[in-house]
Amino acid sequence: MTKSINVAALSGDCPDFERCGADSRVCEDVARLLCIREELRRSFHKPKDVSEHLRIARGITAAILLAYQPDGAEPPVEPISSDLAVEAGVIARNLDVETASYYLGSIYTVLLPSDYRSRHGVFYTPPAVTARLLDMAEKDGIDWSTVRACDPACGGGAFLAPMAARMVRALNGRLPAEIMAHIAGHLRGFELDPFSGWMSQMFLAAVLSPLGQELPQFVVIGDSLGISKEEYDSWDLVIGNPPYGKVKLDTHDREKWSRSLFGHANLYGLFTDLAVHLVAKSGMIAYVTPTSFLGGQYFQALRSLMVSECRPVRIDFLQSRQGIFADVLQETALTVYRRVETRQRGVAVDIVTVTETSSAEIEHLGSFDVPDENGSPWFLPRQSTQVDLLEHIAAMPARLSDLGYEVSTGPLVWNRHKTKLAAAGSKGMVPVVWAECIPSDNSGIFRWKVTGDHFGWFRPRGSDDPNLVEEPCVLLQRTTAVEQRRRLIAAVMPSNFLAQHHQVAVENHVNMIRPIRGQTPKVSLEVVAALLNSEAVDLVFRCINGSVAVSAYEIEAMPMPAAEQLQKLKTLIARRAKRETIEVAVRNMYAVLRTRSAV
Ligand SMILES: C[S@@+](CC[C@H](N)C(=O)[O-])C[C@H]1O[C@@H](n2cnc3c(N)ncnc32)[C@H](O)[C@@H]1O
Repeated sequence: MTKSINVAALSGDCPDFERCGADSRVCEDVARLLCIREELRRSFHKPKDVSEHLRIARGITAAILLAYQPDGAEPPVEPISSDLAVEAGVIARNLDVETASYYLGSIYTVLLPSDYRSRHGVFYTPPAVTARLLDMAEKDGIDWSTVRACDPACGGGAFLAPMAARMVRALNGRLPAEIMAHIAGHLRGFELDPFSGWMSQMFLAAVLSPLGQELPQFVVIGDSLGISKEEYDSWDLVIGNPPYGKVKLDTHDREKWSRSLFGHANLYGLFTDLAVHLVAKSGMIAYVTPTSFLGGQYFQALRSLMVSECRPVRIDFLQSRQGIFADVLQETALTVYRRVETRQRGVAVDIVTVTETSSAEIEHLGSFDVPDENGSPWFLPRQSTQVDLLEHIAAMPARLSDLGYEVSTGPLVWNRHKTKLAAAGSKGMVPVVWAECIPSDNSGIFRWKVTGDHFGWFRPRGSDDPNLVEEPCVLLQRTTAVEQRRRLIAAVMPSNFLAQHHQVAVENHVNMIRPIRGQTPKVSLEVVAALLNSEAVDLVFRCINGSVAVSAYEIEAMPMPAAEQLQKLKTLIARRAKRETIEVAVRNMYAVLRTRSAV
C-alpha cells in the first residue's frame, strides 16, 4: 500500500516551493531562513583557533534564538547580534516549533568547524523524520500521557520539543501546573554540548510557554556514554538520532562496551548498546541511524545483543540519500526495538521515499525474519522486487566458502607507498591493478588501465613483498554507490596478464575472490564472476548493504546457489551464451521473477 505524508520543506533545499502543497507563507519563511543561513555561512570569518570558531558560531546562534524566544534562559555564551540574526529569529516565530528548531539548528551546524561537527556527529533531524519516528513508536503502543522518554543525544531538541508537544496534547484537561510537573518527571535529554542543551531548552520553552509555568531543566549536560547506572532500566522510550562515526576507545571503554563490540567501534553502535541499558523492561528504543549495523562485520556483536535483549520490530528505510541529512551520504534507517521476552523474529519493513516535491511516499513491504544466530547479517528489502527473493534465499544455505572461495581486499594501500609508485614501468616493477580495470558495464572483461592521477607501476621490495599477487582471482570493485546501476562489479584477472608479469599489485579499493588455500574450488573463477555480475546477486547484496563499501564480510555472507546448480552456468559460459541468457539462469536460481525497474 502506498500513501502520502506531507513532509514540506523536509530537505532544507525544497526545490519547488510553489507546488509542494505546503502553506506558501511557510515556504517563503523557510526560503528566507535558508538564504540567511547561506549569507551567514559565507560571511562567517573562520578563525583558525577552534575554541574561538565555536565561540563565534554559538554567539551568532544565541543571538538568533534570543530573537526567536526573547523570554528564554540566558545563553552559555555572549550573543553576537546582527540584523540577519535578529531577522532569522523573528521569521522563525511564524513556523511551528519543530520546523523552527530544525532550520535554526541547521544555521548553528553549518557555522560549526567541520572537524568538530563530524567528530561529534552534529547533524540534526528534519521534522518529518522526527514525526515519522514518533508515529512509529506510537503505533507500537507508546502512550504520551504516561511514557517516560529520553533522548541520550538530544542536540537542539529535535525529539524533545515534539515529544513535549505530544505529552501536552495527551494530558489535555489537566491543570497547567500538573502538566508541567508531569512532563518534568517524564522527559529528559542528555547532551555533551552545553550550547546545544541550551538550544533544546529554548525550543522546549517555545512549546511549553502557553502553560505559563516556570520551565524546569530537561537537559542533563555530560557524556552520555558515562551516564550514571541509576538511569539504567528506567525509560519506557529511548529515542533519538545518536551521533555516528568511528571512535577509538581506551582499554577501559572497550571493556565497558565489550558485549556489543567487534573490531572498530562506531559511536552509534555504542549509543544503541547504551539504549539497551537505559530502556525499561518492555520499553522501546526508536533510533535514526545509518544502516551499516544490518550487515556490517563490525556490528555482529551488536546484532547478537539486539536479538537477545531488544528485538527490532519495525524498520523504515529512507530512500533519498541526499537532502534528508544535509551532507550525509549514508542510507538511513528508522528502527524501533522492543525489550520484551519474545521469540518473534519478524520485522515490519516500510520504505519512505522522498520525492522531488519534498513529499514522501510510504510503501509497506511486509514482515521479514532476522536470524537468531551469532550476529549474522539481517537481510531486509529496500524495494518490492526483493521481497520474493528474500523468502527464497532464506532456504539457500550455501556461501562462497562452500564453493571453495574466500574474499580479501587488495593489499596495496597506495598512499603508504608513494615513493614506490611510478607512471612508467621499469625493470623490477609490477603493474598496479586499480578498480578501473574492472569495467562498470559488468561485462566481466578485465582491462589493465590507469586513470586520473593513479600510478600504473609499483616497485616491490622483492618477490616476497606482501603487496604482490600471483594467482588468478576474481576482482570486485570495493566502492560503489547505491545509485549506481550495479553495486557488484566483477571481472576475472586473466591468466595471460599474470603470465606476462608473473606478479602484480592489487590496490586496496579492489576485493579479491580467491580459492581457499589447500582446497580445490567447486566452480571456476568465470562462474563466480558471472554470478557476482548478475542482477539477481546484485539485488541480494542490496538487501544487506546501503553504504558505499562492498565489504569482504558481506560478500562471504551472501547466499549462493549450490555447486551442482551452478553447472548450468558453467555450460552457458563455455558456450559463450548471451548476457541475457546468463541473467535469466541466475534469476531462476534466486527465484527473482521480475527485473528491477530502476537503479
Ligand atoms: C546526530 S546529532 C542529533 C541531535 C538530535 N537528537 C537530533 O536528532 O537532531 C547527535 C548529537 O549527539 C551529541 N553527542 C555526541 N557525542 C555525545 C556524547 N558522548 N554524549 C552526549 N551527546 C553526544 C552531539 O553534540 C549532537 O548534538
